[in-house]
Amino acid sequence: MSPQFGDFQNEIYAAGLRGLRPALPMSFAELEARAESALPPSIWSYVAGGAGDEHTQRANVAAFRRWGLMPRMLVGAAQRDLSIDLYGMRLPTPVFMAPVGVIGLCAQDGHGDVATAQAAARTGVPMIASTLSADPMETVAAEFGQTPGLFQLYTPTDRDLAESLIHRAEAAGFQGIVVTLDTWVTGWRPRDLRTANFPQLRGFCLANYTSDPVFRIAGEDPRDTVARWAQVFGNPLTWDDLTWLRSTTTLPLILKGICHPDDARRAKDAGVDGIYCSNHGGRQANGGLPALDALPGVVEAADGLPVLFDSGVRSGADVIKALALGATAVGIGRPYAYGLALGGVEGIVHVLRTILAEADLIMAVDGYPTLADLTPDALRAVPPSP
Ligand SMILES: Cc1cc2nc3c(=O)[nH]c(=O)nc-3n(C[C@H](O)[C@H](O)[C@H](O)COP(=O)(O)O)c2cc1C
Repeated sequence: MSPQFGDFQNEIYAAGLRGLRPALPMSFAELEARAESALPPSIWSYVAGGAGDEHTQRANVAAFRRWGLMPRMLVGAAQRDLSIDLYGMRLPTPVFMAPVGVIGLCAQDGHGDVATAQAAARTGVPMIASTLSADPMETVAAEFGQTPGLFQLYTPTDRDLAESLIHRAEAAGFQGIVVTLDTWVTGWRPRDLRTANFPQLRGFCLANYTSDPVFRIAGEDPRDTVARWAQVFGNPLTWDDLTWLRSTTTLPLILKGICHPDDARRAKDAGVDGIYCSNHGGRQANGGLPALDALPGVVEAADGLPVLFDSGVRSGADVIKALALGATAVGIGRPYAYGLALGGVEGIVHVLRTILAEADLIMAVDGYPTLADLTPDALRAVPPSP
């Protein structure tokens, strides 16, 4: 029988017989608590915090609890297959690492983008590399090994700069461009406002800009760099810009931040290759509905186009539920940032392995041996608790 992701638990129990216990957390609650202690307070509040009173951020997580997987017996799901095909990429799992700007700062050495790429190489779980990184995209992509990566674009107001970033991503070997639509302006984030801290305005994570021939500015004064960055960063794109964006690359083009079915339909009509249903983990606009609640409508409207999903995924069970609701691939966000903070590359690998092991074992126990078995029919709505 070929190795299964669930075998991770055998490794842990076997080590236990030799008196060894895992050094890294086995639950999200412990992961989060230990990451808070490990990170400098300003980075912790930037990563853990969200918009407004963070209701939407919590609702993203709570939404998963309103669905329950119906177990099926006598299936004999001894061998599970979690692999997917996405834009010609054969991936061992339906999981990817969502773009996290400032992931660079979550690493002890300040090179978290590189560490994330190395974790992608180790696990086969692709990284979507953010525009906002501590190291240039070429340095990050060089660490991917055999695992494909995608590049996330914050579309600058300067089209030449946007095209330069896209063409650099193509040359560096990225396999797709993910354009994030919901962050042309920063959402209202009380935790960061309380500490008056916004990392990019302090010059952090701008390596993709400072290394870009179109962005380059005269002189070395970091204040000039930040001023120019602030000028070009936020582009309030409209549907009219999509024709241009589509024309900039032959790579798969995926739009991130889509939650309304009409937007999904319109994006499909405009020729994009994928829809990425997400509310940015509740970091951008409070008062929104949980991203998971938007997923089924987006999947229906996407009408066969791949749908990526993130926001609130904390466990293997969550991955399974998002897949059953129609996601083609599921993004892990904050959990891998916390793993990085605690244990570097090893920490990310550990977090991904725990999520995948749980997902795999749920498929085994509940009798859903392939991803095709995970349909909405596998789920039942759980009545709200009194
Ligand atoms: C600290 C932090 C930085 C982020 N930076 C980016 C980014 O640069 N680009 C982007 O598209 N999304 C970014 N996101 C959003 C994630 O891609 C993803 O949508 C979100 O983390 C999902 O929510 P969750 O982590 O609560 O599951 C960021 C999220 C966090 C937590």
